[in-house]
Amino acid sequence: MRERGMIKTAITELFGIQYPIICGAMMWLCKPRLCAAISNAGGMGNLTAGNYECEDDFRLAVKQVRELTDKPFMVNITLHPSVRLTPEHHRMYLKICCEERVAGIEFSGTPVDIAFGPEAVMRLKEAGIRIFHKVGAVRHAIHAEKAGYDGIYAAGVEEGGHPLSDDVTTMVLTPRIAESVNIPVVAVGGIADGRSMAAALVLGADGVMMASRFIATKECEVHPDIKRELVRRHEFDTVLFGKSIGLQGRALKTKTIADIIAIEERGGGLAELMPHMSGQRIRDAWERGDVDHAPLMVGQSIGLIKNVPTCKELINDMITQAGACLARVNGIFQ
Ligand SMILES: Cc1cc2nc3c(=O)[nH]c(=O)nc-3n(C[C@H](O)[C@H](O)[C@H](O)COP(=O)(O)O)c2cc1C
Repeated sequence: MRERGMIKTAITELFGIQYPIICGAMMWLCKPRLCAAISNAGGMGNLTAGNYECEDDFRLAVKQVRELTDKPFMVNITLHPSVRLTPEHHRMYLKICCEERVAGIEFSGTPVDIAFGPEAVMRLKEAGIRIFHKVGAVRHAIHAEKAGYDGIYAAGVEEGGHPLSDDVTTMVLTPRIAESVNIPVVAVGGIADGRSMAAALVLGADGVMMASRFIATKECEVHPDIKRELVRRHEFDTVLFGKSIGLQGRALKTKTIADIIAIEERGGGLAELMPHMSGQRIRDAWERGDVDHAPLMVGQSIGLIKNVPTCKELINDMITQAGACLARVNGIFQ
């Protein structure tokens, strides 16, 4: 197959990558092998810092990615309240990222200037690191731009993980954020193929982020039953939960999720919910392929997952399909 050149957007030019396709953070799944495979395929892989609890392990993971690829990749630092990870862990991640001079950081949750002060932004910039914040609202995007962030991930309520409880869809959020800030915007949520990528670019995005789609790839180190389950399931097979404890999530509809929602509906609190959704349970579920063991935080985009390709096949197919979609639309308007 003919190698394509770089697709020119603010994102590919900022990082010197071929395609504006970025992997979103995935706790327990965004590890060196998957991260490097995505970057080697011309996109941008993700190393999720929360997978590592000590300095040596996190630094080793950064080095492992670098052994597998010479291309840039993002590190995710999630600044949500957590039982397992403390502000000390977050400080350690920032330190290692600066020392290792990673290309970029995807922050989510509390903005880094609020969590660690405006000087944290300065330190990251001095280390040459591009910083992006994942937001679900225009007001949060405007805050990030003012704080000195380099770009925005505009995450609609379709996304897996923790969509903001404003519940605005990617279709509306992307153009609203693109018209409200002057830094690059990447659309997140509901994206898993070339059609959704083309749509995001038309809405004003400079690139796309996907996470669930990358679970069903050859390089993702998850139990094969999980990949089969994602291919089998549909766009209506996810559900929102967690609003009652102030941290909304979107996960696959399973028995565990039904139990969690039942606890929330009868007013059960965090203490009762925690045993069902601990990090260790989620990790075990991915590893054992046991979808009913814990909440699996996937997005509505699973409705678009039909196969389990390599990351290179997936990204090449997306680019071909996005090009065809945009040519068709262009033809309609000529
Ligand atoms: C399994 C899984 C784990 C995730 N873990 C995190 C996380 O630790 N931190 C974070 O900011 N986002 C996390 N997310 C959210 C993604 O980074 C991304 O915003 C979202 O999944 C995009 O929607 P999509 O999965 O439909 O592409 C996770 C998503 C998935 C699917």
